[in-house]
Amino acid sequence: MDAVYRIDDPSQIISPGLVVFRDLVAANIDAMIEMAGDAGRLRPHCKTHKMHEVTRMQLKRGIKKHKAATFAEAEMLAEAGVKDVFLAYNLVGPNIQRAVRYRQAFPDVTFSVTADDVPSLKQLSEAMQSAGGEIEVLLDVDPGRHRTGLEVGDAARDLYRMIADLPGVVPGGFHIYDGHLGISDVEERRAGVLQEWERTLSFRDRLVSEGLPVPRLVCGGTPTFPVYAGLTEPTMELSPGTCVFHDCGYGEKFPDLSPFRPAALVLTRVISRPTANRVTFDVGTKGVASDPPMGSRVLLPDIPDAEQVLQNEEHLVVETAQAARWSPGDVTLAIPRHICPTSALHKHAWVVADGAVIGTWDVASRDRWLTI
Ligand SMILES: Cc1ncc(COP(=O)(O)O)c(C=O)c1O
Repeated sequence: MDAVYRIDDPSQIISPGLVVFRDLVAANIDAMIEMAGDAGRLRPHCKTHKMHEVTRMQLKRGIKKHKAATFAEAEMLAEAGVKDVFLAYNLVGPNIQRAVRYRQAFPDVTFSVTADDVPSLKQLSEAMQSAGGEIEVLLDVDPGRHRTGLEVGDAARDLYRMIADLPGVVPGGFHIYDGHLGISDVEERRAGVLQEWERTLSFRDRLVSEGLPVPRLVCGGTPTFPVYAGLTEPTMELSPGTCVFHDCGYGEKFPDLSPFRPAALVLTRVISRPTANRVTFDVGTKGVASDPPMGSRVLLPDIPDAEQVLQNEEHLVVETAQAARWSPGDVTLAIPRHICPTSALHKHAWVVADGAVIGTWDVASRDRWLTI
């Protein structure tokens, strides 16, 4: 294992335990700012870390605009001191009233959300108007992912005009998330972004020429971050999430993201050596995200030949020629393939700096509901 992941005394870390290496997080945030060219161009997504402390590290470095996917995340951001929170989610059901409550609870926070649907937008407008408040709404533009949003065109234009005309809602620009562009080759990724970008800009220009303000374009995640960062559009805000912690999934797939290093790992212990070539660790699917395929959910740098042959809720069984070197109680670090849902599995992270465990940080907004 690389020396940056040294833990002098792991005995107090209950396993499987999320371990955050503070200085690597700091280095990743610095790398984000360097890639963006300016902290003011960033609106990082907090879905990856969900922690007050990481948000404060970003604020301290001048990253003032932040993005969330849930009300719990939006609340965590406001508690950490963020004054500009964008909840990139279309509000339906009880979330409409939660928007009203959020505005009341954090009146000094500029709060915005997305929309792609007329009836939901009208409900939001009515709720905000009855509460005597106002909320910025970004048009959720679909750049080809087909998860949410409207393709640029007449229906999208009509919805945007409605945001401008209805009371209680104010046009906030466009939200453009392109998770489908997870292409390894950076030039192909760039071509994918540029193909939609021109269409989006001419759509934006059309709306502006019709008198509709489009103050910002919130773009992308980590894979397309370097591509958008190279564009000069002044209203663009870059919204990577994963790279603050990074993981082995992105690390292997996107070599151009080499400035980022995994900063949140899972400490696990051997609990059994059931056969001569098998070692069983306590990092099951309740300790690490199980959306990657079985066999590749973690990287075990200390056992390079490990083949992950079985994983249940509390067990990870590997086969290795090195099995005899491992005994129950032995400790190793696993690098998650997908860190965002991994952090959500842990109530808190153990924080390590200079080899010492210096405390714990709550994964505060892994809960669906905090107070709002
Ligand atoms: C809407 C939205 N924005 C930004 C991100 C961040 O993307 P990444 O995790 O690739 O950094 C995500 C990730 O799922 C997302 O859904």
